[in-house]
Amino acid sequence: MLEMLGLYPQWYVPGIGTAWVMGIIGTIHVLASHTSVGAAWLFALLAQKSVSENKPEIMVYLKKYGMFLLVFSYIIGSITGPGIWYSVTVASPRGISGLIHNFVWLWASEWVFFFVEVLGVYAMVYLIGKIDNKTYLKLAWSFAVASWATMILIVPILSFMMWPGNDHWYNTGSTFDAAFNLNFFAHLGIRTAFMFAVAGAVGGIIAATLKDRETRIEITRFLSKMGLAGMFLMLVMFMWYTATLPPTARLIMETQMMPKYGSTLGALLIATLLYFLLTAWKPMQLRQSIAVVMTLAIGLFGLWPEERSRESMRKPYVAGQYIYSNQFFSRDVPGKGVLSDMPLIEAKGVLATHYFVPDDLRKITPENQLRAGELLTKVMCANCHSVGPKGALRPLPAMFGFSTEPKMIQAYLDGALYYGKVPYMPRMPLPEDERAAIAVYIAALSAGQSSVVTANVSAQSSNPSHTKGVN
Ligand code: HEC
Repeated sequence: MLEMLGLYPQWYVPGIGTAWVMGIIGTIHVLASHTSVGAAWLFALLAQKSVSENKPEIMVYLKKYGMFLLVFSYIIGSITGPGIWYSVTVASPRGISGLIHNFVWLWASEWVFFFVEVLGVYAMVYLIGKIDNKTYLKLAWSFAVASWATMILIVPILSFMMWPGNDHWYNTGSTFDAAFNLNFFAHLGIRTAFMFAVAGAVGGIIAATLKDRETRIEITRFLSKMGLAGMFLMLVMFMWYTATLPPTARLIMETQMMPKYGSTLGALLIATLLYFLLTAWKPMQLRQSIAVVMTLAIGLFGLWPEERSRESMRKPYVAGQYIYSNQFFSRDVPGKGVLSDMPLIEAKGVLATHYFVPDDLRKITPENQLRAGELLTKVMCANCHSVGPKGALRPLPAMFGFSTEPKMIQAYLDGALYYGKVPYMPRMPLPEDERAAIAVYIAALSAGQSSVVTANVSAQSSNPSHTKGVN
C-alpha cells in the first residue's frame, strides 16, 4: 500500500500570494468587527450617561451613530467574515481543518452571540424613544456584553494559532487546553483595548456632524477619553502579550517586524495620541474628514502591519505549532491522532504521495523536470513566497539573489531547508531529485525563462490534460 499525504489541491495566487488575499480581507474585517464591539460599549456607556444625567440629546447622537454602524461596520463585517472563511479554506485547508477540529463549538457559540449582536444594533437604533429608558438600558448592556462575547470566543482560536504555549494540549487534544493557551488572556486584553481606541476614532465621524454645540463637545470629549484609555491599556497589554509569545516569534518580531514596521507604528501611535489629546482640548475643531482619515490610518498603518506581523511571527506554522504554513504536519499530535508528514516525504517525496499531482509528474524525468520543479515550488514555498520574480511577497528569485545557478540554489535546499535550520521556514526533507527540480525551476525564473512555464501547472487536478502544451 502506498501511503499518501492528506494534502488538498493548491490555491495559487500569482503576485500577491494567498497570504495577502487573506491579509487584506482580514484587516478590513478586523477594523469593522472591532469597531462594532467597541461601539457597542460606547452605546451602553453613553445611553447610561444620557439616562442618569437626563440628557436626551445624547440619544440623538446614538441614533445617528447606530445607523452609521449598521450601514458600514455591520455590512462590511458580514461581507468580509464569510470572505475570510472562503479564502482560508482554500489557502490553508489543513490549517482551518485543524482549527475546526479543536474549536467547532466555540465558533458555533460565537455565531449565536453574533446573531444577538446584530439584533442588538437594530434594537438600539429603532427602539430609541419607543421603549422606556430602563428597558433600553438593559438592552444596551446586553448588546455590549453579547458583542464582547464574540471577541472572547474568537480570541482563543486566534491565540492558539500562535501556539498552545505548553505540551499538554498535544497529548490531550482538549478544547479547553487549546482555548486557554498561554497567549489567550494577553491577546484578549490587546483586542479589548484596541476596540475602545478604534471606537473612539470612529465615533468622531458622527460626533463632528452634531448640530447641538454642547452635546457635540461633550461627546467628542467622551470619545477622546475612551480613545486615550484604550491606547494606554493597549500599550500595557502589548508588553504582556510579547511575554507570552513563542521564542521564534519574538525573534522574528525583533529582527524582521520592528525594522520593517517599527517607525510606522511609532508614528501612528504618536498621531493617534495627538488626535485624542487635541480633540479633548478643542472638541469643536474636530471635522468629519479628520476622523475619517484617522480611522483609515489606524486600519492602514496599524492593523495591516499588525495582521501581517502576527502572520509572520507564527512562521513557519499556520496553527498550533504543528501545521506548517505550507500545510505539512511538522510533528505527531497524539491527542488528535495527527502524524507528522516528515517521515513520509523523506522516504517517498511529495510528487509520489500528493493526491493532486498530475500522473505524468509522479516521476521526475529530464523532460518534465522544470514542470515538476514548478509544481513542487508552488506546493512547498508559494504560501510564503511569491514565485514570480516581481511578486509582492518575498519573491523567490530575489531570495536567492537572482542566482541562475541551480547548484547554488540546491545547496540551500540540501542544507538549511532539509534539516529545518531556519527558524521561520518549515523543514523540508525532500529527496534529492525533488530538491534538484526546485532548484532548476527557481534558476529558470531568475534567468527570466519563466515564460516557458507560464501555464499554470500548480497541483489543481490529477487530469494530465490540464498540463498539456507546457514544456
Ligand atoms: C512558512 C513560510 C515559508 C515557507 C513555506 C518557505 N519560506 Fe523561505 N522564507 C520565509 C521567510 C519568513 C523568510 C524571511 C524573508 C525575509 O527576510 O523577508 C524566508 C527567506 C527565504 C530565503 C532567504 C534566506 C533566509 O534564510 O532568509 C530563501 C533562500 C528562502 N526563503 C527559500 C525558500 C524556498 C526555496 C522555499 C520552498 C522550498 C521556502 N523558502 C519556503 C518563509 C517561508
